[in-house]
Amino acid sequence: MHTQARGSANLGKRVCDPRGKGLQLQVGLQTHLLVSTAMHFGSAARAGLHPRPGVAHTFWLKPKSQEKRLRKQGIRGTSYKLFNGDEKEFARSSKEARSRPIALNQEIAPRVLPFFYKMVQIYGKVSLCWMGTRPSLLLADPELVRLVLTDTSGHIIKPPRNALVGLLQLGVSTLEGDKWAKRRRLMTPAFHAERLRGMIPAFSACCCDLVQRWKKLAGPQGSCELDVASEFNILASDVIARAAFGSSYEEGKKIFDLQKDQVILVLEAFYSIYFPGLRFIPSKKNKKRYSIDKEIKAALRNIIHKKEQAMQNGDSGDADLLGLLLQGRDDADNDMKIEDVIEECKLFFFAGQETTANLLTWTLIVLSMHPFWQEKAREEVLQICGNRAPDIDSIKQLRIVSMILNEVLRLYPPVNLLYRHTLKETSIRGMSIPAGEQVGAVESVVSMHNVAICYCIKVIIPFSFFWF
Ligand code: HEM
Repeated sequence: MHTQARGSANLGKRVCDPRGKGLQLQVGLQTHLLVSTAMHFGSAARAGLHPRPGVAHTFWLKPKSQEKRLRKQGIRGTSYKLFNGDEKEFARSSKEARSRPIALNQEIAPRVLPFFYKMVQIYGKVSLCWMGTRPSLLLADPELVRLVLTDTSGHIIKPPRNALVGLLQLGVSTLEGDKWAKRRRLMTPAFHAERLRGMIPAFSACCCDLVQRWKKLAGPQGSCELDVASEFNILASDVIARAAFGSSYEEGKKIFDLQKDQVILVLEAFYSIYFPGLRFIPSKKNKKRYSIDKEIKAALRNIIHKKEQAMQNGDSGDADLLGLLLQGRDDADNDMKIEDVIEECKLFFFAGQETTANLLTWTLIVLSMHPFWQEKAREEVLQICGNRAPDIDSIKQLRIVSMILNEVLRLYPPVNLLYRHTLKETSIRGMSIPAGEQVGAVESVVSMHNVAICYCIKVIIPFSFFWF
C-alpha cells in the first residue's frame, strides 16, 4: 500500500504530557526547552507561621524583585506585567497561529508553540517570561535540559497539580525520589524485550486487522482517502489495551473511552483558576468527573479481580502489565496497593495512546511527502520480513524504518514540553534559579526537542530527507 498526502494540514491535537499542560499543545515543537520558575504560597504561610504576604507583595514586589535577580545574571526576556504576565500574549499568539492551516512542508514549532518559539528567537536559549506572577525560564539549550532532567539533588521536582487534575491519577509519572525509583523497578520488566516478545502476536493481530480493513476500503482500484489519525488512535488504543490487560482488553478499551471523557473534563479544570475546596462543590461538571472516576475504578477492580482468579488457576501473569504488577505484589518490598495498580494501568493508556498515534500519523504524512524513503522503507521490510508478520528479532533489524521514526520524532515530537518545579534555590551550570522566600517554589518547564536534535544530528543527518 502506498501513501499520498493531500492538501494542507490543519493539525491541532494534544500530546502526552503527564502534567497536562502539554495536552492541548500539539504534535511537535522545533526549538524550545522551557524552564519556568513559579512562586506558590506554601503550607507554612497557610499555617500562619509567616505573615501572609500582602497583595502588593504578591502581584508586584515579589515578581519584580525576582525579575531583577534573574536579569542580574544576564538572563534576557519579557518584563513582568501586572496580574497576567505574558499569558494574554501566549493565548493571542496561539489563537492566531491555529487560525490558519499550515503547508505540509512548513516548520511546526511556530504553529504549535508560537509564543515560546518567538521568545527563543528574540532572547536566545535561556530566556525569561511570565505565567501570571510566576517567572518562567525557557531553556533551549540541550545540555541545560539534560542537567535539569537528570538532577538528583531533590530540588527540581515535577510540578504540583490542582486537585481536580489529580483525578487522572497518573501513577509513577507523579512520584519523586525513592518512591519513583521503587515503582519504576516494579514496572520496568513490562518493557523488557523478552516480555514484549510474548505480546508481539497480539500486536501483530491488531496491525493485520488494520491493514485488512484498509485493503478493503481501498477496493479493487487500490486507493482511497482515509483519516489516518483516527485509524492510528484506534490501533494504539487496541495495542496498549492488550499490553496492559491481556485477555481483558475489550473491557480495558471501555475504560480508556471513559478516561478520554475524563481528560476533557480535567483539562477544563486545569485551565481554570483553582480555588481550594473547588473540587468539593457539587457542580454538574464535578459530579460528572466523580461519576466517571467511580465507573473507571469499578471496571478496573473487576478486571483485576478476574486476573487474580486466572492467576490462582495457573495463568503466569507474564503476558501483560496488569499480570506483572499483580505478580510483583508478592515481593517483600512491594507496597503497591490495588489503587496503585489501577493508576499504573490508567497511566499506560494516558501516556502511550495519543503519543504513539501522533507519531504514526506524522510518519505516514512524511512518507507520503517523500516517496523515495517510502520505497526504501518498504524494500527493507520486505527484505527482512518477507511475507511473514514481523517478530521482535526482525523488528530490531529494521534500520531505515527506525531512522525514519527517529527523524519524525525529531521534527514532530509528540511531547513538546516538560515542566519542572524547583523547590529550593538551585544552581544549574552557574545559573541561580531562585526559590523565592521560605514559602516559595520554582517551577521548571522543559521541552525535549533540542535533546532529540543532539542525537539526530549524529545519527540521522545523512538520511535527513526533510530538513525545512
Ligand atoms: C512516541 C511515543 C512516546 C513518546 C514521545 C513519549 C514520551 C515520554 C516522555 C517525554 C516522558 C517523560 C515525561 C516527564 O518526565 O515529565 C514519558 C513518560 C512516560 N511514558 Fe511515554 N512516550 C511515548 C510512548 C509511551 C508508551 C507507548 C507508553 C506505555 C504504553 C508510555 C509510558 C510512559 C510512562 C509510564 C511514563 C512515566 C515514566 C516515569 O515517570 O517514570 N509512553 N513519555
